[in-house]
Amino acid sequence: MVETALADVLVLFGATGDLAQRMLLPSLYFLDADGLLPERLRVVGTARTDMSREDFQAATRKAVEERAAPEPVDEEAWRRFVARLDYVGANAAEPQGLEALKTAVCEASRPIFYLALSPSFYGSVCRGLQAAGLAGPQARIVLEKPIGRDLKSSRAINQLVGEVFSEDRIYRIDHYLGKETVQNLMALRFGNIFFEPLWNNQTIDHVQITVAETEGVGERWPYYDEYGALRDMVQNHMLQLLCLVAMEPPSDLQPDAVRTEKVKVLKSLRPFTRADAGMNSVRGQYVAGVVGGQTVAAYETERGQPSDIETFVALRVDIANWRWAGVPFFLRTGKRLPERRTQIAIQFKSVPHSIFEGAARADLMPNRLVIDLQPDEDIELILMNKAPGLGQSLRLEPLPLSLSLLHTYSGPGRRRRIAYERLLLDVICGSST
Ligand code: BG6
Repeated sequence: MVETALADVLVLFGATGDLAQRMLLPSLYFLDADGLLPERLRVVGTARTDMSREDFQAATRKAVEERAAPEPVDEEAWRRFVARLDYVGANAAEPQGLEALKTAVCEASRPIFYLALSPSFYGSVCRGLQAAGLAGPQARIVLEKPIGRDLKSSRAINQLVGEVFSEDRIYRIDHYLGKETVQNLMALRFGNIFFEPLWNNQTIDHVQITVAETEGVGERWPYYDEYGALRDMVQNHMLQLLCLVAMEPPSDLQPDAVRTEKVKVLKSLRPFTRADAGMNSVRGQYVAGVVGGQTVAAYETERGQPSDIETFVALRVDIANWRWAGVPFFLRTGKRLPERRTQIAIQFKSVPHSIFEGAARADLMPNRLVIDLQPDEDIELILMNKAPGLGQSLRLEPLPLSLSLLHTYSGPGRRRRIAYERLLLDVICGSST
């Protein structure tokens, strides 16, 4: 850790919102409990709500308790964490709205501004920070997705942010990249010799990437109704997963080397034409039903009026390069689906010729590599095996060669980290990996 890169204050915009309360503040507490936060780091929550420092601390305590359950909050760690916590009410939408932050941040030389806000505020916050003299050369800014609704709005936002912060000070967060299992994809692909010769269109038939959620949109609809599943999940999380599966080996693990390989994959994606969109995509929206034995409302009921935003989307995408030509990638994601599952399934081709006859010929199935990211972390390679027995006709059955990360790495003191913990730590240390 380079001492001079360590941030000294983290200003959390949208501090009373869902993301900050459910993920960001608990992540900071856990980092602190593990002794990973710089000693001098202060955390300043800010939002439009007028509340006292004590009320903010109490709300944060509740959020931390909920996240830590069933384990209790570590009181010593909490005392350390709460001493860092401050709150300043400020209206990011007004030109002079951020003046109020000055006193809380003025002594910091390496502030981080984390925008857990609607992207429509990104430009005004950056200008406000500049006007208040807070966007110094050491300041970092963290942006949550989606950065715009389309190319035009995305460019406009990036330009506004870029006028205030240089590119190396801008951190665009995708929390999927902080997940242990997502990081493990790199280890699996590039730390094992036998996948690489098979990792191409000679051997792989297709790839399926699924992010199924049982949760509905609920009170997040004001945000969700503007973006939908395609912008909320596909253009960020799912394309990151696709890039990790499809990219060439990077020269090393430095941010630029990895990014270069990912960008090459994205550039090779065959663009959808209008005609393709009808053939290669499906959009849907959940209606009322039963999930996990509970009756749940339709999206339109949560929203309070009809809407044509999609809560489910499935796409077939093609990567036009030597490695992947002819291998479809099927991406699908949705809310209020019957089970929660994030999974990457690599479906291999059938053997070129079957020597098996009779029933065994029909038993023969192509191999699959199934990488479960959530809720359980599991990697299974499905292989064909002879079913035991003395019968005259040989029978085959698929059996998994299994790497259960849950069992291998569980045990006392092992906690499944929130993906944001790693990302926050990276930003605090000044690493854009
Ligand atoms: C967020 C989306 O980025 O990711 C949410 O905005 C979604 O709509 C969430 O529920 C899923 O994340 P995870 O880590 O639970 O798979």
